[in-house]
Amino acid sequence: MLQESFTGVYLRHAVRTVGDVQTVRAAYIGGEPIGLSMLKTMEKGAGYVYYVAVASAHRRRGVGSRLLRDAVSYLRSVGANEVYASVGEDNAESNALFRGHGFRKTSFGEVSRKYGMIRGVSMYRSMFVVPGEVLLVLDGPSIPDFPAGEPKS
Ligand SMILES: CC(C)(COP(=O)(O)OP(=O)(O)OC[C@H]1O[C@@H](n2cnc3c(N)ncnc32)[C@H](O)[C@@H]1OP(=O)(O)O)[C@@H](O)C(=O)NCCC(=O)NCCS
Repeated sequence: MLQESFTGVYLRHAVRTVGDVQTVRAAYIGGEPIGLSMLKTMEKGAGYVYYVAVASAHRRRGVGSRLLRDAVSYLRSVGANEVYASVGEDNAESNALFRGHGFRKTSFGEVSRKYGMIRGVSMYRSMFVVPGEVLLVLDGPSIPDFPAGEPKS
């Protein structure tokens, strides 16, 4: 799934991250894993969605949306008041997914004003934001709770 979803430095980072990230949540259909999210909490009150990936045969059926809603619900349940994510500026599907769920563009300046310069630097580093990516944030609990039921098929 990761090999279908990422290339180059992102693939290497995703493979490393899935082995040591705090939380991996997965979507299954009939026992087959078809999507995953990688999540962590950072400073008090801040969650981070490292990656959301869906197997290519199962895209555009609402699985990515379900995983993102689930990720936000999970991070909220462990104390996050806001959730960050970084996406490639030219990754149209990813931008549409996150922005369609209420994420907005933020910046290192905004993060460090909120958390202080030293914590801001540490958060920015741990979020693995690289040139060509934009940092997004979801302020507060604006995604409705993860609904019950199966993904669309
Ligand atoms: C991004 C990704 C997770 C979306 O998964 P998905 O299951 O296809 O997403 P959904 O079906 O829930 O679609 C949710 C929204 O994302 C956007 N979207 C998804 N695929 C899109 C595409 N190919 N083009 C444009 N927008 C797209 C749409 O806004 C869509 O809402 P809509 O169906 O109401 O138009 C999937 O394309 C993927 O795994 N990509 C590779 C990995 C990646 O780039 N991950 C994100 C960065 S961490």
